[in-house]
Amino acid sequence: MRLDNKVALITGAGSGIGAAIAKRFVEDGAKICIIGRRKKNLEDVASQLPPGKVKVFPGDITKYEDIKAVVKATIEWGGKLDVLVNNAAINPEGGVAEVDLNDWQAVIATNLNAPFLLMREVVPHMKELGGGSVINIASLGGLRCLSGRVAYCTTKAALIMLTKQAAVDYGKYNIRFNAVCPGFVFTEMTRGHFGVFDKDNLGPFKNIPLKRGAEPEEITGICSYLASDDSGFMTGSVLLIDGGTAVVDAFDAGLQ
Ligand SMILES: NC(=O)c1ccc[n+]([C@@H]2O[C@H](COP(=O)([O-])OP(=O)(O)OC[C@H]3O[C@@H](n4cnc5c(N)ncnc54)[C@H](O)[C@@H]3O)[C@@H](O)[C@H]2O)c1
Repeated sequence: MRLDNKVALITGAGSGIGAAIAKRFVEDGAKICIIGRRKKNLEDVASQLPPGKVKVFPGDITKYEDIKAVVKATIEWGGKLDVLVNNAAINPEGGVAEVDLNDWQAVIATNLNAPFLLMREVVPHMKELGGGSVINIASLGGLRCLSGRVAYCTTKAALIMLTKQAAVDYGKYNIRFNAVCPGFVFTEMTRGHFGVFDKDNLGPFKNIPLKRGAEPEEITGICSYLASDDSGFMTGSVLLIDGGTAVVDAFDAGLQ
């Protein structure tokens, strides 16, 4: 299978896209360590997968000691660490003048500092290993603005640049860094926040070429590919997976 003999660490894997990536990676042959703050959620994910394939590590990626501990634990348990998926993120509301200052700091800590620190921890190991793949789950919101989401969009834009910068600095060690930018996906982060829509009431989905949002599973194939040796010549890429949202012109969407 595509991910046979790969060991991966996935953050925020107790729900949504992270949980779906966890399941997909194991189905594709990987051993995975999953970190999140809610132990029960992580255990629920692990209970759906074959024993011995998943290590559950309850922890908070805004704490540097947890980051160091989970990287160490993954390497001890799996024998190595080939793939890091920086997936965990938060998305509080507010524009520049409204966003709560604690929220602003928490978003920077979760969406930007944590991926940076995790990359910093895994790069020396991946150098020794002769390579590795880091997948940063960014967002279409890192490339386009979302009204009232200044903290989220700013950190996702920075995560995209962090990905490209690391690709330049560590390509010579065969360590690859790619960013995945989903459009709207139905998860805890989004479900219910924007109202209830269906095929007779498409709401904001009417302007998306595919006329719908994605299920978390639809984001996993690209991640499995990036984790695998099939993508061995890809680094520094920023991959949209958005049902075509990004190609729509705002003016034209208004005319539809
Ligand atoms: N849902 C969407 O429409 C969408 C669109 C674009 C990008 N994304 C990105 O996809 C990724 C996954 O989001 P999701 O939609 O599955 O949301 P989600 O809220 O279901 O998943 C995020 C997970 O991260 C965990 N997490 C948050 N802070 C943490 C911390 N400090 N330590 C450990 N774990 C922490 C949460 O508990 C949760 O399990 C995020 O990076 C998000 O920005 C989502």
